[in-house]
Amino acid sequence: MKYGYFDDLKREYVITQPDTPLPWINYLGCQAYFGIISNTAGGYSYYRDARLRRISRYRYNNVPLDFGGRYIYLRDDESKEFWSPSWQPTRNNIENYSCRHGLGYSTIGSQYAGIEAHTRYFVPLDENLEIWQLTVTNRRSTKATLSSFASIEFCLWDAQDDATNFQRNFSTGQVEVEDAVVYHKTEYRERRNHFAYFATSEKNGRFDTQRESFLGRYNGWDKPDTVAAGELTNSIAYGWSPIGAHQAKIELAPGETKQIVFVLGYHENPVADKFDPAGSQILNKKLVKPTIDKYLDPVNADAAFEQLSKHWDSLLGIFQVDTPDVHTNRMVNIWNAYQCMATFNMSRSASFYESGIGRGLGFRDSNQDLLGFVHMAPIRARERILDLAATQLPSGGAYHQYQPLTKRGNNDIGGDFNDDPHWLIIGVSAYIKETGDWGILDEPVQYNNVEGSEQPLYEHLQRSFKYALERIGPHGLPLIGRADWNDCLNLNCFSDTPGESFQTTTNKEGKVAESVFIAGLFVHSGTELAAIARHRGLQAEAATYVAEVEKMDKVIRQHGWDGEWFLRAYDALGAKIGSKECEEGKIFIESQGYCVLAGVGLEDGLAAKAMESTRKHLATKHGIVLQQPAYSKYYINLGEISSYPPGYKENAGIFCHNNPWVIIAETRLGHGDEAHDYYTRINPSAREEIGDLHRCEPYVYAQMIAGKDAPSHGEAKNSWLTGTAAWNYYAIAQWILGIRTTLEGLEIAPVIPKSWPGFTASRSYRGVTYKIVIERQGQGNSVALTVDGAAIEGNIVTPPTDGRKEVTVKAILS
Ligand code: GLC
Ligand code: GLC
Repeated sequence: MKYGYFDDLKREYVITQPDTPLPWINYLGCQAYFGIISNTAGGYSYYRDARLRRISRYRYNNVPLDFGGRYIYLRDDESKEFWSPSWQPTRNNIENYSCRHGLGYSTIGSQYAGIEAHTRYFVPLDENLEIWQLTVTNRRSTKATLSSFASIEFCLWDAQDDATNFQRNFSTGQVEVEDAVVYHKTEYRERRNHFAYFATSEKNGRFDTQRESFLGRYNGWDKPDTVAAGELTNSIAYGWSPIGAHQAKIELAPGETKQIVFVLGYHENPVADKFDPAGSQILNKKLVKPTIDKYLDPVNADAAFEQLSKHWDSLLGIFQVDTPDVHTNRMVNIWNAYQCMATFNMSRSASFYESGIGRGLGFRDSNQDLLGFVHMAPIRARERILDLAATQLPSGGAYHQYQPLTKRGNNDIGGDFNDDPHWLIIGVSAYIKETGDWGILDEPVQYNNVEGSEQPLYEHLQRSFKYALERIGPHGLPLIGRADWNDCLNLNCFSDTPGESFQTTTNKEGKVAESVFIAGLFVHSGTELAAIARHRGLQAEAATYVAEVEKMDKVIRQHGWDGEWFLRAYDALGAKIGSKECEEGKIFIESQGYCVLAGVGLEDGLAAKAMESTRKHLATKHGIVLQQPAYSKYYINLGEISSYPPGYKENAGIFCHNNPWVIIAETRLGHGDEAHDYYTRINPSAREEIGDLHRCEPYVYAQMIAGKDAPSHGEAKNSWLTGTAAWNYYAIAQWILGIRTTLEGLEIAPVIPKSWPGFTASRSYRGVTYKIVIERQGQGNSVALTVDGAAIEGNIVTPPTDGRKEVTVKAILS
């Protein structure tokens, strides 16, 4: 069953039933101020760092699910009935409910008792605030006398501390109220120079700032005493739980509409100018007041909304396609690109599944995310690369994660994930292929954020590869370290203590366990690095990389091949993992996909065989599972992977992130039908019809879909923040549709389904817009190219030398 529909023209997903199987969320903000918002207005906001600078409070895993958010209540002051137009938190029997999740905004509303109300939530560009535009219309034939209430619960900044340190936190809360603005200033008196605020365009209403005064004892957000009674109490929070709540009286003639604007924001004052008057303890509001006033004016709010729409138009306009498949079009043109921007902004920090306190930005994750957004935000990609590289350790290894606010490596998790350094090479290479910005390689970048340790970025790449070369195991394959891409294959961990971190506990020396997956990654990154070195004129160095890659390729074929597929690894005792000799976990997806993607076995038939085995043993109608058979019990030599029940997560779940590796692998073999078929199996839009099974949002990818060993086979989980976004985008855009960035120019190499007559695309690349027409004339994948009418050799279109800004490319496939 469906819970809504795609409005492709408006680029919105419209949810028409509020009780979706799970909260279906959207993101607000795309620069420094961010929020998540569910289809019933649940969620929270933060500034830059979901853990350290949380603006509003949210309780994860709440009961009922998704309780707490940007809640608005309406009250009929005659009947005394109240409700929430967003359904939650009051959950009345509203009519005409809709939530339009769009690009950077959500509009949620409904009609109740003849009163229609919608709220549009968004974050204007270049501002650290969000706007809520509430529009109320009287659809009755009589006058309506109403009150509106808007509320937000503040978080005391550090979300982790906020949720645990009550002995202190119940005593620190402080606010000020002035001119219909609630200022949340907990800890401002001491070492903070930032505060949050919640303002309303209705200046004459009442307010509350203490949660208990607003809700009443033992009440939840569904039944605030004050809303029921129709009057806020003008409470001033002193300790306990500061909130912002505003009341406005609304009188509406039949057919009349009224708009109220709310602004929730974050502001930093200069340290020397914190108080006004100086020497007092009163917040200096002078610097923020003009901004608040500006956006409380609906004209300015509308203008900011227009600007935001234009921003997204231009981002998405960089690559647009028209193919025979609606799901492909929708995902490439709108939602997958949009999700890539979200994963870039959030990494894995804040979603309905990531609490914002767990992880900062992952080194591995963020480098891969680049593949999906680099064309839309090259300048920010550059910045991200330099930040990431600065957390690299002098050994060439890397902190596995870093906090975005401090940009420092996260000591709790540390390093030694031996795949990490390779991803930096792959990320940088993707950046240069897109931008042609070779200069980035000469940027001085610190190691481990230590001043004075700056070396050109290129040196970071050299050290990455050197790190890999220094960590080769007994078979000549890369040592796995703490884990590779699969965080749950913890071959040196041998953990028998509950609660111990599988990823950071190591009880073995780490000199035996090897990863065939990293071997594939090695071939990939070594090939990329060789090409970069060649371009820098370092021919001899490039040759050493090529030699190492060739050596690794041989080792994979000798010690990483199991007869019908690639092995996955050797454990700490040297036993095979992912082999027909194993009782469980005989075949894994990662090494099949990644080795073939990297080009291993394309010539001698191993790649084709590996893909055949993948199809035979791992493919299901809901996607390709991670391994088979699933581990039915805990294996101490394998770690977390066998800790999950069969069919979930890394234990034979459909881990959507690695499906595109197989998709790309199929394209490398020229198999367009197979590639697009796999692509469609996990495409959320193509799964919209099975909403009750899939359960997650139909407009974005989820990290995982339950595998065939789970009772809920086909159920998705952990939507939004996953490398799946970037990899699927990359797979469809660059490998199936085959519009591929290379160091030299734009390569046109589609490997599309045989039944497609072709497709068209528009791609802006290095300042030129390419209008691309692909026409199928035969069943194969060979390409004959004409550029502005002239036939060219090969299939790489290089940027025009005569200043043309638009180029027509025609490709005949035969
Ligand atoms: C999660 C992690 C990612 C890891 C994957 C597989 O998605 O964010 O880093 O590669 O799980 O374990
Ligand atoms: C768990 C998850 C994995 C994730 C990791 C992050 O192991 O199964 O997907 O990458 O946590 O620390």
